[in-house]
Amino acid sequence: MCGIVGYVGEKNAQDFLISGLKRLEYRGYDSSGIVTLDKNGKTTCLKSKGKIAGLEAKISKNKRSDSIGIGHTRWATHGEPSERNAHPHRSGKIYLVHNGIIENYKVLKTKLEKFHKFTSDTDSEVLTALIDHFYLDGEYPLTNAVVQALKLIHGTYGIAVVSELNPNEIVVARSGSPLVIGIGHGETLIASDASALIGHTRKAIYLNDGEVATITAKSVEIKTLDSQPVSAKVETIKTDLTAIQKGGYDHFLLKEIMEQPTSLTETLRGRIDLNEKTVHLGGPNLSEKELKAIKHVIIVGCGTAYNAGLLASYYIEQFTNDITIEPVMASEYRYRHAHVPDHSVALIVSQSGETADTLACLRDLKSQGVKTIGIVNAIGSTIAREVDGGTYIHVGPEISVASTKAFTSQAVAMIMFGLTIAEAKGIKNSFIAPYVDDIAKLPNEIDNLLQSLQETIKTLAEQYKKYDHAIYLGRDVAYPTALEGALKLKEISYIDANAYPTGELKHGPLALIDDRFFEFILLPEDGLYDKSISGVQEVLARGGHIIVVTDSTDFSLPVENTVFITTKLKLLTPILMNLVSQLFAYYITTAKGLNVDQPRNLAKSVTVE
Ligand code: G6P
Repeated sequence: MCGIVGYVGEKNAQDFLISGLKRLEYRGYDSSGIVTLDKNGKTTCLKSKGKIAGLEAKISKNKRSDSIGIGHTRWATHGEPSERNAHPHRSGKIYLVHNGIIENYKVLKTKLEKFHKFTSDTDSEVLTALIDHFYLDGEYPLTNAVVQALKLIHGTYGIAVVSELNPNEIVVARSGSPLVIGIGHGETLIASDASALIGHTRKAIYLNDGEVATITAKSVEIKTLDSQPVSAKVETIKTDLTAIQKGGYDHFLLKEIMEQPTSLTETLRGRIDLNEKTVHLGGPNLSEKELKAIKHVIIVGCGTAYNAGLLASYYIEQFTNDITIEPVMASEYRYRHAHVPDHSVALIVSQSGETADTLACLRDLKSQGVKTIGIVNAIGSTIAREVDGGTYIHVGPEISVASTKAFTSQAVAMIMFGLTIAEAKGIKNSFIAPYVDDIAKLPNEIDNLLQSLQETIKTLAEQYKKYDHAIYLGRDVAYPTALEGALKLKEISYIDANAYPTGELKHGPLALIDDRFFEFILLPEDGLYDKSISGVQEVLARGGHIIVVTDSTDFSLPVENTVFITTKLKLLTPILMNLVSQLFAYYITTAKGLNVDQPRNLAKSVTVE
C-alpha cells in the first residue's frame, strides 16, 4: 500500500528515489511522484499517472543534481489515480508524501480551506496543509509543526516532509504505516520497506508508532510525539540484492513459485528432527506447560494468509481432540464481538507483517490477554515485533502481489505448531511421525511436481484462458486449497473464480454450470475420495468443462482434462495440489497478456483498513 522513499546526502537524490520507488512499486502502482531540492531550496516536483516507468521517463527529461528529496508510489484510497492526486503534495513551502489514511480529513479540510487552496481530492493534502498551518513559513521548526499537526490527526500514517527553507532535512513520522531509516556513509535514506535500501546500506532503524525523526545526511534524531527522546536501535538488513531480482525469470511470480523447494527448506531448517520424528519450534516462546494447557487456537489472517490458516486448521484438529481451532478473517474478526475462551492462543499470520486488519486483531487479542504468536515472513515488521512470540517462515522477499511461496510455508509452519501442541499433550509419536515424515519430504516432492508438470499446465492454461468464469471444488483439506486456487486465478487473470466445498455443489453452485464456466476439481485420494467422485459425476452430468487434479491412479472419468500428481506423500497432498493451481493461474495470466506481478487495483501490503 503506497511506497515512500527519501534521500539526503551527497549523491544524486533522483537516482535513489527512482530506484527505490521501482523496488516498492509492488506496494502500489497507480501513480507516483518525487520532489527534490537544490542547495538553495529550489524544488523540482515531477509526477506521473500509472507505472513508475512514466515517472522515470519524465525524470530523464528533467535531470537534476539535487541531493535531497522524497518520493511516493500510490495505491489510491481518497481520489482517483491521477497526477493531481499523486504525491508529493504541496502547501506553501513544504512537500509531503503519505502512506495511510487520515480519517478526520473532512473536518480538518473544512477548517483549512480558509488558508489553503486544495488542488487534490486526497486526505494527504489535508495533512500537508495542516503542517504548513503550524509551520508559519518557517517561524516554527518543521519537526515541531509536524508534531503539532499529527496530534490532531486520527488515522494511520507513514510520512516524509521537506521544506524549501531547509534543504538539508527530512522529517519522518509513523503511526500504523511502516518507515525504515537507512544509515549510510554521509547519507541517510528512508523507505517504507527495507527492500528499497538493499545495496545502499545494511544499517537500518525501524521507526515505531508515535515516533518522529528529524533526518539530515549525518544525523537521525528521534522523539515521541510527547517530545521524549528515543535512543534508536540500529538493526542489520540481511537480505541480498539477488533476493529482490527476477533471477532470469520473466516474472517474480514464476520465480517465487519455482523457489518453493528452497523457500520451504528454509522454513523447515533446524525445526524437524527426523530421528526422533518431532518438530522443534523455538520462536513461539511457549513452555511445555503452556502448550499443554492450550484449549483453543484462533488463526487470524487476510487473503492468502487466511486460506493458509484455514488449511492448517483442518490438519491441526486431526492431531488432538483436546483443542478447537477457529480460523478467522481479520477484517471481519476485528469488529465482531467474539468470545475468546480461556486458554486460547492466537496465530497471527501475515507475509508482510504489516496488514492493517491483521495488526488490529493482534492488538485487540493482546489487550484481552491472549498469547499471540506470529507466523510472519518480513523480518522486523510491525506484527513480528508486537507478537509475544513467533515463527518466521524465512521464505525471503515475496515481491509479486499474488502470494505463493508464503502460502506454502505459512501452512506448513502452522501445521508444525499444531504438532508441537500435540507432542506437548502427549499424543503418541506413532501418530505424529507420519506427518513429520511428510513435511520433511515436501520440498523434494514440490520440486518433482514443478519439474514434471510445468509444461502440461502451460498447455492446459492455453485451453482455458478463453473462459470468464471458473468454479474450484475440493473437500476437507482440499477445500481451503480450492479457495486459494480460486483466489490466485481471480486476482491475476481477472477470471471470476469462486471455490466451494464439493459437498455443497447440490446446495446452489450446480445451478451455475454451463458453457461459460470451467470447473477445477481437486481430488486427493483420501477418506472422502469416493464421495468427491460423486461431485465430479454431478458436474459431468451437467456438461461441465472439468479439469481434475488427483493423485489417484484409479481415476478414469471422462472429464476434459486430468492432471495426475505422482507423489509419495499421503497426508499433505493438497499442499502439492495448490502448486498446480499456482502454475495454472500464472500461465493463464501470461497467455492473456496481463500484468502478472502487479494486477490491477491490488497492492501487496495492505496497510490501510
Ligand atoms: C493483500 C495481498 C495478498 C495477501 C494479503 C495478506 O491482499 O495482495 O496477497 O495474501 O494482502 O497479506 P499479508 O502480508 O498479511 O500476508
